[in-house]
Amino acid sequence: MPKFLWGAATSAHQVEGNNIHNDWWAWEQKLPPGRRSGKAADHYHRFPEDFALAKSLGHNAHRLSLEWSRIEPAEGSWNERAIEHYRQILEELKRQGLTSFVTLHHFTNPIWFARAGGWARLDAARTFARYVRVVTQRLGDLVDFWQTINEPMVYVKKSYWDGDWPPAGHRNFLAMERVIGQMACAHQAAYDVIHHHSLVAHVGLAQNVVAYSGSLAPLYDWYYNHRFFNLTRGRHDFIGLNYYYSSTKPAQPWAGAVSDLGWPIDPAGLTKELLDFKKYQLPIYITENGIADADDSRRADFIRSHLRAIEVAQAAGADVRGYFHWSLLDNFEWAAGFTPRFGLVEVDYNTLARHPRPSAYVYKAIIEQHQTSQNVVDRNEN
Ligand code: BGC
Repeated sequence: MPKFLWGAATSAHQVEGNNIHNDWWAWEQKLPPGRRSGKAADHYHRFPEDFALAKSLGHNAHRLSLEWSRIEPAEGSWNERAIEHYRQILEELKRQGLTSFVTLHHFTNPIWFARAGGWARLDAARTFARYVRVVTQRLGDLVDFWQTINEPMVYVKKSYWDGDWPPAGHRNFLAMERVIGQMACAHQAAYDVIHHHSLVAHVGLAQNVVAYSGSLAPLYDWYYNHRFFNLTRGRHDFIGLNYYYSSTKPAQPWAGAVSDLGWPIDPAGLTKELLDFKKYQLPIYITENGIADADDSRRADFIRSHLRAIEVAQAAGADVRGYFHWSLLDNFEWAAGFTPRFGLVEVDYNTLARHPRPSAYVYKAIIEQHQTSQNVVDRNEN
């Protein structure tokens, strides 16, 4: 097992292409072409090239998600070709020496599941656990770290509070609470299923955190950052944190302090969140952190400053063991389509050619430097 884990993350629907059996795909068909995922980055076919690229950029780990709708395209019917495909993907990661972080749910649902009520169904958790059982039996031997659900609070907020993600148009606090309840049960059930299969498995989830400030900060912090974790307390072998921004408005937005999406850049917020999550006394992995930056003018500094922020937290006792940049590749940024560019590697959507951005080499140099200098990041490892 490598020491500190260095890598990048992706999710199935955002990079694979042609995920025709999920609710996002169904929804996108009503949108203009630029906002449909289509063939995305064609990672479904190009994964060996993409993993080789990650390896050549110095990574020793990689985070990806499995697409439930490929594995179970109709209720209770398991697609052997899709399962075999994911075996090949995970085997390829092993061949490249990349430790795997595998997410089981990253925002998309099979159409049959969505049509039957999705996460608001009372048997949603049980239905998800059945999928997890099949995946664990068939792929579990190749997975190093599991993340059951990606950012449950982002999912419920976008889909059941803002109403701008599928099932779209739902703005209902009670439905949102019901979905949170089902997702919490789903995480617990998935944790138990995976551990039943393997006592040594590492299971967690990916929690999006926002560094809040202002008078309502304690309320937001309790509800958004910590509540899901507390509802599922006791069933986490590690904490996966995804951090992008704080709620602090930049004083000078023109001075490069925001991303192309207008998100404030605030590395100190990451230190703050790490020190806060330290209280759970579990190893922490940053499983997403990145910036929409099409001309790559801010990404290198973004990486440097956030890695420094991690070191500050480590020096104060936070047990951080890995960092995954979002994202390895430019990808389909959900309702925003293909315009935001989050990739260390640029994807030319006409030719699908991959071009590592200069910041990808800056990240590589930092990784190499940490691996040789044994500085605070490595010293923290046991
Ligand atoms: C999500 C990713 C998304 C990224 C940038 C995260 O909340 O997990 O799917 O692309 O943020 O918006």
